[in-house]
Amino acid sequence: MTNILMVCLGNICRSPLAEGILKSKLPENKFFIDSAGTANYHVGSTPDKRSVAVGNKYGVDISNLKGRQFKVNDFDKFDLIFVMDASNYNNVISMARTEQDQNKVKYLLNEIYPNQNFEVPDPYYGGDQGFENVYKMLDEACSIIANSLR
Ligand code: 4NP
Repeated sequence: MTNILMVCLGNICRSPLAEGILKSKLPENKFFIDSAGTANYHVGSTPDKRSVAVGNKYGVDISNLKGRQFKVNDFDKFDLIFVMDASNYNNVISMARTEQDQNKVKYLLNEIYPNQNFEVPDPYYGGDQGFENVYKMLDEACSIIANSLR
């Protein structure tokens, strides 16, 4: 099994969508894919309606996912930890215990634009176009990940 974790701030907009998209591209018997937020505001919540809607538009159902907070033992459970932005990166890295933990943490968009540390913008306070934009970025990055791991 390869275990992959997607991380954002709230675990209701970007990372659940990234989880659903990557799941749709990889066989579930070989890949365990999950998501988490660095914050605890939305623990137990289903994803934002706008993320659910844009997922449905492209055939990815995330309506049953539940928010949870990133925790230190995620470094033990996961092989790769993809973050959406610099704030997520810093929050996750600050919890790393070892260099091995640190090396698991990657900016998701570095899959498309290596070493650039570009961010998936937080769409929470914007409109539907923000979610569409985020979907396209996540889909492109997840295609690259799936093609490289399959
Ligand atoms: P996410 O978006 O990190 O992509 O899930 C956010 C969701 C909620 C909040 C911030 C970002 N919030 O402040 O409640």
